[in-house]
Amino acid sequence: MKAKKTARKAKRTTTTDALRQALADSYALLAQTHICHWNVRGPGFFALHAAFEEQYTELFTAIDEIAERIRALGELAPGGLGNLAKMAGIAEIAEDSNAEEMVAHLVEVNQKLVKSLVAVRDLAGASGDSQTEDLMIARLQTHEKTIWMLKSFLD
Ligand SMILES: [Fe+2]
Repeated sequence: MKAKKTARKAKRTTTTDALRQALADSYALLAQTHICHWNVRGPGFFALHAAFEEQYTELFTAIDEIAERIRALGELAPGGLGNLAKMAGIAEIAEDSNAEEMVAHLVEVNQKLVKSLVAVRDLAGASGDSQTEDLMIARLQTHEKTIWMLKSFLD
């Protein structure tokens, strides 16, 4: 009985750790999407400039929800650009990248984030944390859709 209780507590801690990683990866994606919004050039400018804005705006709200879920679970949310970048460990796009390089880079960053979100979803699901699981499912739907749209641009 006692061992079961301890195992459950350890699992919940792991969920918040995974949530902290998902938060850092989401913030890194937001920053990368923002720089692409600013620096994109070429024939796809209007479409990409607008699409990137839509993506980082949606992410900003989502990041707040993830951070507040961490707080609701009793842990502290990570913050600070340097700290979040270090946690995410995501390569940054060069300022002079072309549109295709930007989109390919954002596909990669979205894919890394999807892995982090899946990890949280599975941990939350295994510990019966339906609220976190539900939040992660919603985030996965958004990022899988974004990956599909970005990849379609590259086709
Ligand atoms: Fe703008």
